[in-house]
Amino acid sequence: MPEQDGCVIGILASGRGSNMAALLEACASGEIPARVAVVLSDREQAGALETARRMGVDAVHLNPRQHGSREGYDRALVAELRQRGVNLVCLAGYMKLVTREFLAPYAGRVLNIHPSLLPSFPGLDAQQQAFDYGVKVAGCTVHLVELAMDSGPVVMQAAVPVMDDDTAQSLSARILEQEHRIYVEAVCAFAEERVRVEGRRIFIRAPRK
Ligand code: GRF
Repeated sequence: MPEQDGCVIGILASGRGSNMAALLEACASGEIPARVAVVLSDREQAGALETARRMGVDAVHLNPRQHGSREGYDRALVAELRQRGVNLVCLAGYMKLVTREFLAPYAGRVLNIHPSLLPSFPGLDAQQQAFDYGVKVAGCTVHLVELAMDSGPVVMQAAVPVMDDDTAQSLSARILEQEHRIYVEAVCAFAEERVRVEGRRIFIRAPRK
């Protein structure tokens, strides 16, 4: 993927978009040296689309029903991203599984944020799963996206202690704060090309002072 324009980000979101907003703010303030070219959503009603538009970012609903198959839909997504020169894709509460059609043109360049310490508690309602299991330490993970859900190499994690008086909701709220923090940090590392991938192990160089 050509990177002569620096880091150009595309964000995929299906929901309220708080992680997306954290990334947009960090790019706007210069904390992440990158430009967000587009926010794409499979859901017309996603709060993320509205927030992105309010923040002056191109936001597009692509209807999965207008594309015959998952692969066809992913080809349409890739076309939208490529036409805007996107070279780094961030999934932020994107609820569809991506196919090879999506990953092949963006190999090693698709990130996701998940609200558990993977590989524990993949899938939906991860915070509730961790809470119900009774773990003492929950958290969140930024990882590279592979075909199998929530399975790619770990880029960054943050631990969040579970308090005796927590509910799944209070725990989720503290995890979400950490999601916003580490997603910005991880994307910044990609934008500054400080990331080295060796198989499943990912190494991040400290930023220049
Ligand atoms: C976050 O908890 C994220 O980890 C998960 O989906 C949720 C999306 O929340 N993948 P938001 O739309 O970013 O507020």
